[in-house]
Amino acid sequence: MESNVLTSTNSNGNLRNYDEVCDSFEWSQAEKAFSWAETGLVNMAHEAIDRHADSDKGNKVALYYSDQHRKEEYTFKDMRDYSNKAGNVLKDSGVTKGDRVFIFMPRSPELYFLLLGTIKLGGIAGPLFEAFMEGAVKDRLEDSGAKVLVTTPELLGRVPVDELPELEKLVIVGDDVKEDEKTINFHRQFEQASSTLDIEWVDREDGMILHYTSGSTGKPKGVLHVHNAMIQHYQTAKWVLDLKDDDVYWCTADPGWVTGTSYGIFAPWLAGVSNVIRGGRFSPEDWYQTLENYKVTVWYSAPTAFRMLMGYGDKALAKYDLSSLRHVLSVGEPLNPEVIRWGMQALNLRIHDTWWMTETGAQVICNYPSMEIKPGSMGKPVPGTEAAIVDDEGNVLPPNSMGNLAIKKGWPSMMRAIWNRPEKFESYFLAGDWYVSGDSAYMDEEGYFWFQGRVDDVIMTSGERVGPFEVESKLVEHPAVAEAGVIGTPDPVRGEIIKAFIALRDGYEYSEELEEEIRNFVKRGLSAHAAPKDIEFKDSLPKTRSGKIMRRVLKAWELDLPTGDLSTMEK
Ligand code: WT7
Repeated sequence: MESNVLTSTNSNGNLRNYDEVCDSFEWSQAEKAFSWAETGLVNMAHEAIDRHADSDKGNKVALYYSDQHRKEEYTFKDMRDYSNKAGNVLKDSGVTKGDRVFIFMPRSPELYFLLLGTIKLGGIAGPLFEAFMEGAVKDRLEDSGAKVLVTTPELLGRVPVDELPELEKLVIVGDDVKEDEKTINFHRQFEQASSTLDIEWVDREDGMILHYTSGSTGKPKGVLHVHNAMIQHYQTAKWVLDLKDDDVYWCTADPGWVTGTSYGIFAPWLAGVSNVIRGGRFSPEDWYQTLENYKVTVWYSAPTAFRMLMGYGDKALAKYDLSSLRHVLSVGEPLNPEVIRWGMQALNLRIHDTWWMTETGAQVICNYPSMEIKPGSMGKPVPGTEAAIVDDEGNVLPPNSMGNLAIKKGWPSMMRAIWNRPEKFESYFLAGDWYVSGDSAYMDEEGYFWFQGRVDDVIMTSGERVGPFEVESKLVEHPAVAEAGVIGTPDPVRGEIIKAFIALRDGYEYSEELEEEIRNFVKRGLSAHAAPKDIEFKDSLPKTRSGKIMRRVLKAWELDLPTGDLSTMEK
């Protein structure tokens, strides 16, 4: 094992002595970094943007934006003025404190102005991934009671406006927008809007952002985060991202997912560094070019992306000058030791795994620049947080025991609610104060945590979390489908891929066309990433006597494993 340890070559990291800091650090010490510690006036967007705009960082580039069509730069002053303007457009649409403003559009500078503008008004931003189709969009807008939706003319067709009585206004970002009582032309109003805005000062516990995420049962749930999360975003930007003033930082995640907001917006700007946003889809050449063009120094991405780059080969890599890179991080799925070895050889850098989830709001278990890395391990808890392996009753287990990965309640960025579902929120906590993650893991004798798998049936495909229930529900809406069971199966590049087992209704027969039609039905109804890559047709599916599809049996079939206890199975 010892020979597998990667020694740190960066003793100059912001977190120089992990053990020492762990012994003495309390979160209240981090509060000194914020202007509210003196003024008492709280708003995350003020700390991330306006505070820097009004300092000697005003003319520093905050945002380097590019995609296939645009290449733009915005200073912190620009970001202040444009988020104020966007805030004024939203204010004119009636947005006030606590209102949910959903933002359903591809990455663009306007998306960032609008998200920050929402937060400046004390609104709760709800970013939606652009690939969502009608069913997925409707569920989220309905559940959250969104008052305003920001979208583009292209995506508007996927919004069932007439079925959403609480939705009062549509702010459309695009050309030739026809305005009516409900519809606002963003560009026209933005032009005219004032660049000053009275920011809404809030309580640290007031809502700021709502991310929908999937569990193994039920519809997606709205995970609410509050302004107080900024404490952890800022502190992990220092310790984990290791950001320093001169850094150029790039997080590849879309803001439709929590990584793209916590670490694509809040953390880098709270730390006052230049942030690269690249729109458009993944492409190896494009990504290498982005790293080279902006001389990115700190890069945060995901195992699936690294594996795709790895598969693309080192010849392509050799064409680019990536010598500016000094720190690389990963999140979302297990980071295979093989990928870390590729990083050492191809980039001459260690890739630092980080573990966290939508519900934790920020990084919790990480590898730090100044610490030894054990490839395959997620690292150690962020100082100030307590993680442990607990049994199903909430008892802490000794090192090397497999169990539930849990975090002691009270870290600053912890979710504060599941929207509209207090009982669901409570169900996450065991023995009062352990938040149970749904992951199984163990901790070794030196305090490193090792991921083992999900405890539930949640699927992680390309780093995106997919709830099998949501896919099954969509499948059975198809007229040919009688029963559907959905599981994740191992895939060398994507981590897992989605596989559906389907029993057809009487009168339907398998054909390739039908299979394709069913797959497209999920693509059109939910999103491409939720559509089963693989479909297997069966006469009937294994069910409990109460009629629940037994995914564990499907999984056992798939992986050729023993099916285990079948006593509850319907005969
Ligand atoms: C689930 C959370 C916020 C991060 C993006 C995903 C899995 C996350 C790791 C890691 C192994 C990981 C877990 C977790 N996961 N990071 N470093 N190693 N698994 O956020 O969509 O809320 O999913 O992602 O299973 O529970 P998410």
